[in-house]
Amino acid sequence: MRWAAALAGLGLAAFTGCSSDEAGHGAAGDAHAKSSPAVDGGVDGSPRAETGTKDAPSEAVPDASDDARSEVAPDAREEDVGRTDAADVGGPSADAASDTRDTDARDAGSGGADGASDGNRGDVGDSGDGPSGDGGRPIDTMAGAALTRGHHMGAAVQTALLDSTTEPLFTTVLTTHYDLLVAEYQMKWGTTQATRGTFNFAPGDQIIAFASRHGMLVKGHTLVWHQSLPAWVTALAAAEVGAVLDAQIAAVVGHWKGKLFAWDVVNEAITDDGAGYRNSIWFQHLGAAFIERSFRAARAADPSAHLIYNDYGAEALNAKSNRVYTLVRDLKNAGVPIDGVGLQFHVNGAAPPALADVATNLDRLIALGLTVNFSEIDIRVADVPGTQAEKLARQRTLYHDVIALCAARPKCHSASTWGITDKHTWIDMQYGAGHMPLPFDVNYAAKPAVAGVIDAWLGK
Ligand code: XIL
Repeated sequence: MRWAAALAGLGLAAFTGCSSDEAGHGAAGDAHAKSSPAVDGGVDGSPRAETGTKDAPSEAVPDASDDARSEVAPDAREEDVGRTDAADVGGPSADAASDTRDTDARDAGSGGADGASDGNRGDVGDSGDGPSGDGGRPIDTMAGAALTRGHHMGAAVQTALLDSTTEPLFTTVLTTHYDLLVAEYQMKWGTTQATRGTFNFAPGDQIIAFASRHGMLVKGHTLVWHQSLPAWVTALAAAEVGAVLDAQIAAVVGHWKGKLFAWDVVNEAITDDGAGYRNSIWFQHLGAAFIERSFRAARAADPSAHLIYNDYGAEALNAKSNRVYTLVRDLKNAGVPIDGVGLQFHVNGAAPPALADVATNLDRLIALGLTVNFSEIDIRVADVPGTQAEKLARQRTLYHDVIALCAARPKCHSASTWGITDKHTWIDMQYGAGHMPLPFDVNYAAKPAVAGVIDAWLGK
């Protein structure tokens, strides 16, 4: 399979003998947990619920303040369940590649959907398809440009938005500019096992089916987190926690075995100050060993999936990134099966991380024998001074510069944006409207950031 060869190119051929561990959680102690318990919500094609967190985020920790996060009501998620994306089969058709840098995305042609997917595991690192990118994706699309060097351009998606009958521009832009999908919440615990012992894989299956039809990879997200936990999980007796965690990982990873090229196994286990582990139910009951346990369980359930530790606020050089570094270094040294680190890159464009420090951080992680990826990019520009055009120009520069860091490193397999359009973004819920964080505007027109991303993947 092509993906295997490509992973080998990244030094990932040996899936055994790696490692990982750690994690944390936070349902009980985190502010986000108070708005809604245990499940995720989000964009379902309709505006997010207002959760009152608009003013909560601290600019001192611009991106991440976990305490600022909240989740919308469980009901929002349920709207996704049972949807089908059959209407997407027609998808974008392959017409001429127009230059999306200066034009509305509606005119962008389609690029990606050749339907010739050989599965969702993909061809990570495979740059052998030449200047037109993989599957004939035009190089004036973000994915086509990324593929010229063997990288991948990803997006977090909601199942409901893959229904082209209700939101046709979403699927057009998605399949034109992206070749990797991440479930925004449909593979999290709140969806996959909302009721104890009853698994729901249907929404995730729909994302995988869409990706398969359009020749896209899928990265699983996320197995062990302090959010998206049903009440029955947070209420578990201490003695049950380990077995329940093992069973969840075995069932979820097992269900999608062979269909995902990677998993974000443990998410956001380190505290914002980098002092230690988040006080999640996992950490409370299992100690830091829950991290190693989770990676080992994931490896056992799908030996060929690339296993990743993912976190926010650890992009540049700071106490948290230092702690993430020591965590993954120690896991690696202990033989825990960890293969990569994801840096989320939820960023305030008025106070972004120092890119030179991000480069140094990437290189020290790569030097451990790990891959890296930018996993959840969005760049808020409401606080950037100047006119609208100046804000968007600044955003273009920041998008360009972060993608350039990935483009310059073969071990950076992908960069993903957390959503694709300002019409549907979790930032509206977290920080209020008007932050314009994503590459496409509310009408799906390509913002200047799109050209910045394309230039960066092409080394310009
Ligand atoms: C967010 C989703 O965007 C929301 O729809 C959901 O309600 C909560 O989770 N870091 C992560 C992601 O790793 O899983 C989060 O996604 C955003 C922060």
